[in-house]
Amino acid sequence: MRDTEPTIGEWQRAIEFLTATGHQCDDERQEFILLSDVLGISMLVETINHRKTVAPRGGLGGSSPRAGTATESTVLGPFHVVSSPRRALGDNIDLVGSGTPCVVAGRVLSADGTPLPGAELDVWQASDQGFYDVQQPDVQPQGNGRGLFTADENGAFWFRTVLPCHYPIPTDGPVGTLLHATKRHGYRPAHIHFIVTAPGHHDLTTHIFVAGSEYIESDTVFAVKRSLITEFRPVDDAEQAAGYGFTGPFCQANFDIVLLPAAAG
Ligand code: BEZ
Ligand code: FE
Repeated sequence: MRDTEPTIGEWQRAIEFLTATGHQCDDERQEFILLSDVLGISMLVETINHRKTVAPRGGLGGSSPRAGTATESTVLGPFHVVSSPRRALGDNIDLVGSGTPCVVAGRVLSADGTPLPGAELDVWQASDQGFYDVQQPDVQPQGNGRGLFTADENGAFWFRTVLPCHYPIPTDGPVGTLLHATKRHGYRPAHIHFIVTAPGHHDLTTHIFVAGSEYIESDTVFAVKRSLITEFRPVDDAEQAAGYGFTGPFCQANFDIVLLPAAAG
């Protein structure tokens, strides 16, 4: 207030904005968290609280973090549900069947490179149309784009899905008004969410981002970290496609996830 010296009218408008933000909140919707997200506050708090647990590897894209560095975290977002449907490794979390099929694979490792057998991976993503199942209960089957997986005896995981799409955050409330007034877009680049847990290790909440996705340089919630950008490599090979139960071209993404031992900080 000392820096900006608002007029009484501007101060009143700010109070009205915050009041409207409160009125938009209910058991289903948390407009204050969304406000925190678009102001970059959620990501800042997330980063401050994990700064002792990671050392980013830098550079654009790639799939294997340096030994000794943990995978970076990012925001949880409002579309996580408790709990995702339990699925077997290799299952397809896309229950709709439109869009470009994908295989996502990797290993869960400890910071020294030791595999973490039995690590749990909770995965969720928007459809190829850019909507989560909970946003379209009459269109998408419940649990579409979600799965709870257990890594195998080598710490490996793999699942099938559809290439996610960039999407807008909810902009029909005060946060949308703020974005509009400040001439900002309300889009997030395409991503897949993960919560990864293993005994004796810090839990990790993160995403993998689709390299080259629209809005990758201007995520409206500031949640992109370069180390999380992942190539979704196109594969046009009938034999490989058939091996995954696909009938045409598909994408393949590899991403190893490194967890920090709990004793380390
Ligand atoms: C999400 O990725 O699901 C998300 C994160 C922050 C705000 C809105 C959506
Ligand atoms: Fe999301």
